[in-house]
Amino acid sequence: MRIIAGPTSTVLSRRVAELLHSRIVDVESKVFPDGESYVRLTAPIRGEGVAVIQTLSRPQDASIIQLLQLVSAAEEHGAMKVTAVVPYFAYARQDKRFLEGEAVTAGLLARLIKEAGADAFMTVDAHSVDSMKGFDMPVTNIDASPVISEKLLEMKLNGASVVAPDVGALDRARSLAGFMKGEAFSMRKSRDRTTGEIVMADADFDVAGKSVVIFDDVISTGGTVTECIKILRRHNPSRIVVACVHALMVGNALDRIVAAGSEEIISTDTLPSTVKTVSVAPLIAEELSRSA
Ligand code: R5P
Repeated sequence: MRIIAGPTSTVLSRRVAELLHSRIVDVESKVFPDGESYVRLTAPIRGEGVAVIQTLSRPQDASIIQLLQLVSAAEEHGAMKVTAVVPYFAYARQDKRFLEGEAVTAGLLARLIKEAGADAFMTVDAHSVDSMKGFDMPVTNIDASPVISEKLLEMKLNGASVVAPDVGALDRARSLAGFMKGEAFSMRKSRDRTTGEIVMADADFDVAGKSVVIFDDVISTGGTVTECIKILRRHNPSRIVVACVHALMVGNALDRIVAAGSEEIISTDTLPSTVKTVSVAPLIAEELSRSA
């Protein structure tokens, strides 16, 4: 298998290629003066299975067009099988029509990726099951808990309570809690779909004297996690650490979370990050070799 290193995932692509002993296909990329994107595969791939690794980091819309161009180029140049590996699947939170008149953007992206020429899709901790529904091809949704838990266990957080900021994130918290040998709980959050404002109810579980890991898929503005920390602190936990899979960290998100009282913030390398990261490369490599 050859790894096509998308411009947004060059480092992660190299890590995956090393683990698989695969050759990398570098991508030449530029943006034209008028803003259009250009990509070019710099090696032949005819007859080979390829994985295009391209995360949908900011600016997401430009990352998406590069992904579609690369998948299409691989297909047009005779790849035997094209797996689109999208470590952070942007727009997955728009997995349904919340207000009349909206598009279901996650489904739209799924259709575009298929139309571009992908035979299979792989991502890490997609926001929801619904966000994967539009893919008419084999889909692998990798759980990052095994690598995140390693880091947390190094920090002596064995047995910590893992708290999901909302009910939708509880399965993810349960998975992490399984590796940590702790319990999983969920806060109850609601969001105003027009203003984006969140309201979080008080915790109805006990964390007094316990270590707590707040675990979410995405941290964007940090509002959700900060609110969660504020509420949990009223219940006197001994430690609070924040972990997420995709650290978008918009604006002063990091400062807000630290100021609210998180000892540390752990994320993965699905996105370029300013916080401590653990790599999902071994998990992606394992899934690619399984599906090759
Ligand atoms: C939403 O359901 C997601 O799982 C995250 O909780 C959310 O996107 C985080 O956004 P922010 O950091 O801006 O509160």
